[in-house]
Amino acid sequence: MLFAFELSGEHDVLPRKEVFACLSMEGLQYNEYASFDQCLVLDITGEAIEKKLIFIAGRLAMCHHIIKTACISELFSEKIIEMCEACDLSEHLSKGQTYAVRAKRIKHHGGINRESIEGKIGGTVYRRGFRADLQNPDVTFRLIMTDKAVFGSVIASVNRSDYELRAPHKKPFFYPGVLMPRVARALVNISQVKANEVLFDPFSGTAGILVEGGIVGSHVIGIEVRRKISYGARANLDECKADYSLIVGDACRVPLKSSCVDAIVTDPPYGRSAAIKAESLHELYSESFCEMYRVLRSGKFAVAVSEKNVSEFAKKAGFSMVDSFDQKVHKSLTRTFTVLYKD
Ligand SMILES: C[S@@+](CC[C@H](N)C(=O)[O-])C[C@H]1O[C@@H](n2cnc3c(N)ncnc32)[C@H](O)[C@@H]1O
Repeated sequence: MLFAFELSGEHDVLPRKEVFACLSMEGLQYNEYASFDQCLVLDITGEAIEKKLIFIAGRLAMCHHIIKTACISELFSEKIIEMCEACDLSEHLSKGQTYAVRAKRIKHHGGINRESIEGKIGGTVYRRGFRADLQNPDVTFRLIMTDKAVFGSVIASVNRSDYELRAPHKKPFFYPGVLMPRVARALVNISQVKANEVLFDPFSGTAGILVEGGIVGSHVIGIEVRRKISYGARANLDECKADYSLIVGDACRVPLKSSCVDAIVTDPPYGRSAAIKAESLHELYSESFCEMYRVLRSGKFAVAVSEKNVSEFAKKAGFSMVDSFDQKVHKSLTRTFTVLYKD
């Protein structure tokens, strides 16, 4: 069955990786059917697909809607209407249900008037004997106008405004250098940590990553070398009612047993603005990655965000490299996201 993920435009790669990781976490198999600008169409197989996708929408940060795809056409009004007239809607709309049609144009694609195409598609559904209800429809159809036109029914939407409420400066404690909540959540998702599992951040700072892990129901553990920041992190974690343990200490000497955490997501200091408590950045990375490897259970993932290339430190510590991709933050800062695995 085809499902389209309407992705946010915050990053080229991160939204896609987040979707793939969540599907794997929920045991769903997928094949990439098509990849358009801000829209990923996947052929998904497995048990209870829609139920799992609704759950996944509650975790995703960099996606707007998940759409059960009815049809895909070239991006011309006539082609779209033809496609909507011809396609089978029996899996989307049942007798007696009401509907609404919404269209979204991604960036410059198409130049088709949104309201006009919504009305025309609505007409094709109306002529099949269904009643429109724009305020409170049973089924919302969505047309994504990207490289092509992707049409289907919305099965789940992501509540993106919650992330705005958790913007770093709105939290009880703020300190510069923190990741934005949506990036932090995407990384938590890429680590595939589940509710009731243990997520660890050895450079926890103000707990931006741990807050997102706590909200998805993980028990979160953080280490931060600066006492004042660790106290502030406590306030941030209390506010979101996370189940947490914070340690004031050194990421190079982690006071945890071996193989006791299920996932690691971390944002180590880069060496410029953030304070480094170690002999050198080299030593800090070398020793902390060995500690991360030691405390992570086998068969689990670690995700690191860094300005520095961490792959050599990670490989020396024993990790296998799964993935690595960059984000240009501004002219002089490029972040690298590295996904690691412990065999
Ligand atoms: C880039 S910041 C992490 C920001 C964090 N993600 C947040 O949400 O605030 C890196 C943090 O590592 C801490 N740090 C530096 N050296 C450390 C060490 N040896 N052990 C533990 N934490 C350390 C810094 O004090 C800083 O708060």
